[in-house]
Amino acid sequence: MAVRRDTAGGQAYDATPYLPDRGGLPAYREAAAGCEGCPLHVGTTQTVFGSGSASARLVLVGEQPGDQEDRRGEPFVGPAGGVLRKALEEAGLDIGESYLTNAVKHFKYTSTGPGKRRIHKPPTLREVSACRPWLTAELRLIGPHVVVALGATAAKALFGPSFRVTKDRGALFSPGEWGDGTGGKACALATIHPSAVLRSDEREAAYAGLVSDLRVAAAALR
Ligand code: URA
Ligand code: SF4
Repeated sequence: MAVRRDTAGGQAYDATPYLPDRGGLPAYREAAAGCEGCPLHVGTTQTVFGSGSASARLVLVGEQPGDQEDRRGEPFVGPAGGVLRKALEEAGLDIGESYLTNAVKHFKYTSTGPGKRRIHKPPTLREVSACRPWLTAELRLIGPHVVVALGATAAKALFGPSFRVTKDRGALFSPGEWGDGTGGKACALATIHPSAVLRSDEREAAYAGLVSDLRVAAAALR
């Protein structure tokens, strides 16, 4: 008997079957806790769903949770989150009125060394697109005015795989210029990831660049 395959050459990665068919952010958060839409849930502590106000005017999208986020179940609570919070404040943005989330909701890592420290590993495009339905739902439910992609992974998730942060960072796109998933009212822009500031040889300049891009978002919110 022939074995039925739904996709050529392997298993489809897709969060869609795990999405609730109704409800607000809490219902989605609860459902995402059980997502097995791609292999990244294996070996992690938990799904790290977005966090913040359901009526936020600003949504910030990172790449994926890191080690500390995985343990605590909240986005941006580690070192990159520290840089981000400081930069937001300096740009005049109120974190209490923002929503923080990630393109991918599970921590991807490799373990090495005797202490088995977990080292971040970038998600593949396949994993990003598998997880995209959660991000789409968050944007639709929140309906922000501005969406900021932090780094290449988030920018590709929002603007497509050919987007280059190095080239187009800081440029504000009107709702019609990107695949706005919020009912046509959100502007969007990309900037560097806060962890790139921590890795940079010229930290101060990198940080200033991040703040300057976030000021574009702040101006768009006024
Ligand atoms: N980096 C991210 O992209 N997201 C987090 O939540 C933490 C670190
Ligand atoms: Fe589901 Fe996203 Fe986690 Fe993959 S990374 S299991 S799609 S929540």
